[in-house]
Amino acid sequence: MFKAYKVACAVLLLGVFLSGTLLAAGKAASSTAQSTKIDVKKLESAFKNSKCIQCHTWDTYKLGKPQKKVEDPFGSDQFGTSGPPDLSKLSPELVKEISRSKTFLEEYLIRKVKLRGKQHGFMFKGDGEDLKLLIRALLQQKK
Ligand code: HEC
Repeated sequence: MFKAYKVACAVLLLGVFLSGTLLAAGKAASSTAQSTKIDVKKLESAFKNSKCIQCHTWDTYKLGKPQKKVEDPFGSDQFGTSGPPDLSKLSPELVKEISRSKTFLEEYLIRKVKLRGKQHGFMFKGDGEDLKLLIRALLQQKK
């Protein structure tokens, strides 16, 4: 009789303990999921404030105004000759540089390094947080 009471208590305590850890684990999982998801509203203002929008479109996130080469955004002359590329698809050269150096993209955007032997057409002078978000959004679509 007394024993049964003790067992019930133990089971109850265990239950409380388990649900607590499960809840905590669930919370941790959902917050990491949030931190990798791109907030498109924030990205849009970073894209505008940093002036990327003056030259680029970004189809992945539906940003920027479509330009005339929109019929063939990934055409062979996407880079260099026909003006600023849409940022949805990173060029093979850029992908190669990124795989060699984690900081390449940031250094390219602040004109410390060259891509295809050229500096970026624009020097980033905006907010550091915006730059981080832009880089994260660029890399996350790299598949
Ligand atoms: C004055 C126009 C201009 C502005 C503003 C500009 N870019 Fe560019 N960007 C270019 C041009 C032109 C190229 C292609 C350069 C080349 O082919 O070497 C380019 C290339 C790039 C590339 C490399 C694409 C690839 O896959 O090779 C990235 C990434 C990029 N820009 C991101 C940005 C971001 C982010 C911003 C805003 C901070 C921005 N650009 C602002 C003109 C611009």
